[in-house]
Amino acid sequence: MSGGRARPVVAIDGPAGVGKSTTARKLAAELGFVLVDTGALYRGVALAARDAGIPWTDADALGDLAAGLDLTFELAADGEPRLCIAGQDRADEIRTTDIAAGASKVATHPPVRAALLGLQRRLGAEGGVVLEGRDIGTVVFPDAEVKVFLTAAAPERAKRRVLDLAARGQAADEAEILAQIEARDAQDSGREVAPLRPAEDAVHLDSTFLGMDEVIAQIAALARTAGA
Ligand code: DC
Repeated sequence: MSGGRARPVVAIDGPAGVGKSTTARKLAAELGFVLVDTGALYRGVALAARDAGIPWTDADALGDLAAGLDLTFELAADGEPRLCIAGQDRADEIRTTDIAAGASKVATHPPVRAALLGLQRRLGAEGGVVLEGRDIGTVVFPDAEVKVFLTAAAPERAKRRVLDLAARGQAADEAEILAQIEARDAQDSGREVAPLRPAEDAVHLDSTFLGMDEVIAQIAALARTAGA
């Protein structure tokens, strides 16, 4: 095991709306691993910046803010990790489309990425962890024992997001959601630092035609082979 870890690190990367969060949550529960939703950390920086009146374009001020932020996850009764900023549960507030767009913007700034890198590595250092994000297999844990790049066609992801929002009682326009997903894809893949791209040794799984249970079973099998 790399880095002296007793149990593997499972890295799941992929674009917005591909089902990473649910896949990673169920996988972590099945393996008895800790779950780290790294997108929540970028969302936390975007939210804290708004609280502090710092524009999402001010790289240096955002980097200073991120370096000093107290970001933690508290486990809810149902096992869901909830993001806390300075000990306060902000998990619902980071789930708006506005904060998603802000997270994608703040994530383009190298000082923000540098500030969150150490935190992500500390959260996964012991192994026995599933981290999901955009650059886990390429930058955060290039030595992860299991690397998966999860994809699905953008229209399929838009359809899923609409169903997801409907299940939470929120109406959504599918064309608008698709445009937002494509804009985030372009921003996440096009940025200079740690762009969204598969690690060379990542296993590619396309969930357009694979059910989530099948995706989870395939990753769980890879993790078990790696010592989970
Ligand atoms: O997965 P998510 O939608 O919660 O992520 C929010 C934004 O954070 C996403 O647009 C890109 C950014 N992000 C990133 O740059 N690197 C990560 N490891 C995770 C998320």
